[in-house]
Amino acid sequence: MRSASLAVRPLRLALLIWVASAAGHVAAEDCRQRPAGVYDPAGFAGSETCAACHPQHYDEWQGSAHAYAVADPVFWYANEASYETNGIENFCITCHSPIQDLADGEPDSHASAREDLDPVAQNGVDCETCHRIFDVTNGVKQLTGCEDHYFGPIADPAGSPHGAEYADAFQSAAFCKPCHDVNLTKEPTFELFQIEFTSTEWEDANAAAGGTAEDPAIATCQGCHMASYAGPAAKEGPEREVHHHQFPGVDVALLPFADSHRQYRATQDLLRSAGAIDAQLEGRSVRVDVTNLIVGHDLPSGSAHARAVWVHLRVVGADGTVHLESGDLDANGDLRDANSEFDPYGDPWISNGESVFRQYMYDEHGDEVVAAYGLVTLVQKDMLTSGEVRSIWYDLADVLPADAAWPVQVDARLLFRPAANFILREIGMPQDEIDLVPTLEIAATSLTIDGEP
Ligand code: HEC
Ligand code: HEC
Ligand code: HEC
Ligand code: HEC
Ligand code: HEC
Repeated sequence: MRSASLAVRPLRLALLIWVASAAGHVAAEDCRQRPAGVYDPAGFAGSETCAACHPQHYDEWQGSAHAYAVADPVFWYANEASYETNGIENFCITCHSPIQDLADGEPDSHASAREDLDPVAQNGVDCETCHRIFDVTNGVKQLTGCEDHYFGPIADPAGSPHGAEYADAFQSAAFCKPCHDVNLTKEPTFELFQIEFTSTEWEDANAAAGGTAEDPAIATCQGCHMASYAGPAAKEGPEREVHHHQFPGVDVALLPFADSHRQYRATQDLLRSAGAIDAQLEGRSVRVDVTNLIVGHDLPSGSAHARAVWVHLRVVGADGTVHLESGDLDANGDLRDANSEFDPYGDPWISNGESVFRQYMYDEHGDEVVAAYGLVTLVQKDMLTSGEVRSIWYDLADVLPADAAWPVQVDARLLFRPAANFILREIGMPQDEIDLVPTLEIAATSLTIDGEP
């Protein structure tokens, strides 16, 4: 399996000798140009070794979704489901643990669990995965063959025991694109077919605001997900403008994982900046306005085919009578739409998509694709786009009797589920693990109706 690494031994040895005799830490040959296929797992130090000198970066990263990328049980269930249904082999690993892809070099190999991965690749998207990238032209990440040599945003790194080199890419939104746009390669033509769009959404939002890649008019990904603070970049290093590495989004660890409580809080804080909800009475209807406050990408974004953002609305009389409820969950924890086993299409606003925001993927027969990504032939996006406001009307005429116990209270909440239960069941996740997936609140509002509208 690792014949490639044998062939490169002499090269690595030559490199070591050169480095040992060189003053400073300039890479010997231009390791950036070293082609893939010359990687040896032993050439990766592992994120734990960075902790000694970059304690805060390590501490924050270890609780992040990047560290969780191959620890996530959902990942492995989904990985197996896509493998079994259409033979997707190492495709998923190329982003969730790029070092495995390199260390292994076998496009046909297939891993079924974190333990199947090379020990240096079990940290998912780790320090070296990102800091051995120096160029992301055209959305392609190229991890360099540079061992013990890391690229970053500091123009004048000082006193590092390893090679340290500035690269423009780190401050650019394009840095995230190789992984945060997901394209399938359709055989036999190898044509690209896009199924996840976060970076494309950002480029569109930036272009709409008059920005360019070099001179963006909106916040970059780093601007929102890697807030800066003043502190040392390395232990005992000078104070600089440095960046948080917690990368909150919406995913939270389901199984015990480093600092999961802190990550959960960071996620909740971030979500509060994600959206707004407002309700008002308009004639005999309640009009609910929902806003995507993110100027940068859709809400939800990324794995938006597995996620859902939706409105939960309750209209309750003073005597406790529930006159209307939409966006509640059935006994399986699913919304009452086509995917509900208990009350299919029972919730009109959810069923017709008016009050639920997500991405839909279909195969050539028009059936929704849940896990067999390779079968997708049509992607339909119905998320809240960057900055979008959408209105939903709930007609109360037929549900609110004249003799209702006034005042009637309307509560509306904008909710977010990192993964929908019906999808998790479909990929074979046991119910007790599914039950751990939280529903998170982005925003809430209420309205009192004093008498018959
Ligand atoms: C023995 C201490 C030590 C260890 C271990 C260490 N570093 Fe560093 N690193 C430093 C110092 C010192 C700097 C320079 C800090 C400065 O100039 O403010 C640095 C700088 C960096 C930079 C910034 C480069 C730039 O130009 O922007 C990156 C990225 C980096 N290290 C990554 C890593 C990674 C990844 C690991 C683990 C594989 C690691 N370091 C291990 C001490 C260390
Ligand atoms: C204006 C701030 C802002 C910018 C710019 C931004 N994000 Fe986000 N991002 C958020 C907020 C707030 C959330 C939480 C709500 C959500 O999950 O959509 C989020 C969520 C996410 C998620 C979770 C996926 C999901 O379901 O929505 C990912 C992944 C992500 N961002 C990646 C990126 C990347 C990559 C970029 C750049 C291409 C970027 N973000 C730019 C604010 C931002
Ligand atoms: C998903 C990619 C990613 C991962 C994983 C990652 N980094 Fe970074 N890191 C970045 C980016 C991007 C920047 C620059 C942010 C900016 O300048 O806006 C950065 C900046 C840095 C810097 C320079 C100081 C600073 O904070 O700006 C150091 C040092 C560093 N990272 C170390 C680490 C270490 C150590 C790990 C693992 C524990 C790690 N990084 C994991 C992407 C990553
Ligand atoms: C090498 C691939 C790679 C790169 C480069 C990368 N990411 Fe990620 N990122 C991932 C993967 C894979 C996940 C999902 C991990 C999981 O939850 O299984 C992720 C998750 C995230 C999340 C959390 C999403 C959630 O739902 O909670 C955020 C936020 C995020 N990335 C932001 C960024 C930003 C910002 C950058 C650029 C500075 C970046 N990433 C660069 C692969 C990458
Ligand atoms: C091009 C890079 C890339 C590839 C290839 C890729 N992913 Fe991801 N994956 C990501 C990123 C980035 C995220 C984070 C997006 C977000 O949080 O919305 C992610 C998130 C996830 C999540 C977390 C969502 C959740 O609800 O918990 C799962 C599970 C997942 N991917 C499974 C897979 C599987 C299975 C495959 C292979 C069929 C795969 N990924 C292929 C980049 C990739």
